Amino acid sequence: MKNNKNLLMMLSCSAALFAACNGNPKTTDSTVKDSASTTTQHVPDSANFEADLQGQKVKLFTLKNTSGATVAITNYGGRLVSLLVPDKDGKATDVILGYDSVKSYQKRGEPYFGAIIGRYGNRIAKGKFTLDGKAYQLDINDGVNTLHGGFNGFYGKVFSAKQLSASQLELTYVSKDGEGGYPGNLTATVVYTLGDDNSLKIEYKATTDKTTVVNLTNHAYFNLNGAGSPTITDNVLQINADAFLPVDTTLIPTGKLQPVKGTPFDFTVSKTIGKDIGTADEQLKNGKGYDHNFVLNKHDLTTPIATVKSTVTGITLEVFTEEPGLQFYSGNFLTGATKDGKGGKAYPYRSAFCLETQHFPDAPNQAAFASTVLKPGQTYHTVTIYKFSK
Ligand code: GLA
Repeated sequence: MKNNKNLLMMLSCSAALFAACNGNPKTTDSTVKDSASTTTQHVPDSANFEADLQGQKVKLFTLKNTSGATVAITNYGGRLVSLLVPDKDGKATDVILGYDSVKSYQKRGEPYFGAIIGRYGNRIAKGKFTLDGKAYQLDINDGVNTLHGGFNGFYGKVFSAKQLSASQLELTYVSKDGEGGYPGNLTATVVYTLGDDNSLKIEYKATTDKTTVVNLTNHAYFNLNGAGSPTITDNVLQINADAFLPVDTTLIPTGKLQPVKGTPFDFTVSKTIGKDIGTADEQLKNGKGYDHNFVLNKHDLTTPIATVKSTVTGITLEVFTEEPGLQFYSGNFLTGATKDGKGGKAYPYRSAFCLETQHFPDAPNQAAFASTVLKPGQTYHTVTIYKFSK
């Protein structure tokens, strides 16, 4: 354990030294260098996000605070494009993966980067469910299941946008009755607020005119060493969950709640994401790594349900949520095949992790899981906060 730690420290020091020796010039504007990589950290050119799509204007919006953080968001998919936070040396580091233009997002190499996921985060078995005695069929876009709202989920929709202040953006999308197979006209509003404490609050609201199911989340792909760094297996993770949801080979929860104790899924005490990821374990095999929902211990918005730390940049992420579950995905489907990421970077296998706060996958078919049903007259309301420190 101690030896591992020393080795890690040595590796991160040599990474930092390499960056320092590689002749990175100092810059003074918002285009700054990060200590973990040799490439430039900046918010993409907003001109590359100007487009007329779906009868609406697409744009890139920027939120800033007084503590040196910058968040860039496009209303195409309600996406987080860049999230720059200070590292241990005060240098801005972009900690999320993304693309430099709306055109690149439209190519859907990785369709979910930073997006608002709706109407339903994660999978619903065979894309089927029954509500009030009526059967619904959704898009089958992930093997035999539906994933993240189907072929035309919110990740491909243009939201109407209202910048409320320098640090707050409101996005609204009206999903028509029947879209993706889901019942009811659903009006979803997402408000992003960047706090001066380097917290990014995401507040979700939704209403419907017919009984439906809804499970919204954000699909940011984080790398606390800096987006474009080769791996996240050295990021140190803790999750307040004594149980997780085992899945079948199509990644649908079996319905059991399995205690994490004695399994590679035990993140109750911090460990690197990579520590047990290579263990011969049926669940890791099914997920091709971690791609599972963690059953969060009793919590409220005042205590973090997950904490991640980079020993390279010193950046720590704390996640707060009102949701009962956390989908932890270790970037197992990333390939790094093309250098189409921000700044021409490739995003290799396991070079990002996702912590998607949500109700459990397949809840519409699993009566023992907390309900995701929304009825007319009710308001879906949930808050998640990603808070950064160093
Ligand atoms: C979620 C899913 C994963 C994968 C990613 C996107 O985290 O659980 O299986 O589909 O989204 O690639």
